[in-house]
Amino acid sequence: MKLLHIDSSVLGPHSVSRQLSAAIVERLRQQNPALQVAYRDLSSTPLSHLSGAHLAAAQGAAASADVQEDLAAGQAVLDEFLSADIIVLGAPMYNFTIPSQLKAWIDRILVAGKTFKYDAQGPHGLAGNKRVIVAISRGGFYSADTPTAVGEHLETYLRWVFGFIGITKPEFISADGIQVGPEHREKALTNALQAVTRLQAA
Ligand SMILES: Cc1cc2nc3c(=O)[nH]c(=O)nc-3n(C[C@H](O)[C@H](O)[C@H](O)COP(=O)(O)O)c2cc1C
Repeated sequence: MKLLHIDSSVLGPHSVSRQLSAAIVERLRQQNPALQVAYRDLSSTPLSHLSGAHLAAAQGAAASADVQEDLAAGQAVLDEFLSADIIVLGAPMYNFTIPSQLKAWIDRILVAGKTFKYDAQGPHGLAGNKRVIVAISRGGFYSADTPTAVGEHLETYLRWVFGFIGITKPEFISADGIQVGPEHREKALTNALQAVTRLQAA
């Protein structure tokens, strides 16, 4: 079984989502020591944004060496995603949504004919055979009973994106209120790490 571990926080060793995603991988590895783990750090090795030249080349237009390199990088990201059975994703909230580094990754895995398709009935996800576990960290609070709920575009966005490609039950482990104060940060992290210990192997 293959697990793809992805981090996207820019905060390196200070990152909460990195700590959580690592704990999730460790938990799953303990439950299945044969797990093959691949790691991608979208902050230290960012993907470039999609370009018009990239999209044209993907449709068969002539491509410069640079664009060919970019296409190959995108293909590698897509192949890595498609071959994984489990994806563990570290996803911090930056400006109410995912980091732009993570958006660049999503732009490489939402590929028509590979992870979704359209027919007369509308869109269909093609990647439904995967388990996705997302480690979220947010500075504030966004639950339904808060006035800031309407500003939550991280978890809601990822639920939609994964659902669109057929992964209808992504799992989320969240540490919220990280910026409220050190005490709250500690409590949020402890609770999230406890939730990790309750994760079951697939
Ligand atoms: C650039 C930046 C933007 C942020 N924007 C938000 C935000 O919009 N809402 C929020 O609740 N917290 C925000 N925060 C706080 C982070 O969500 C919080 O520190 C979280 O722990 C970040 O995850 P990380 O530690 O894995 O990077 C922001 C932090 C940074 C660095």
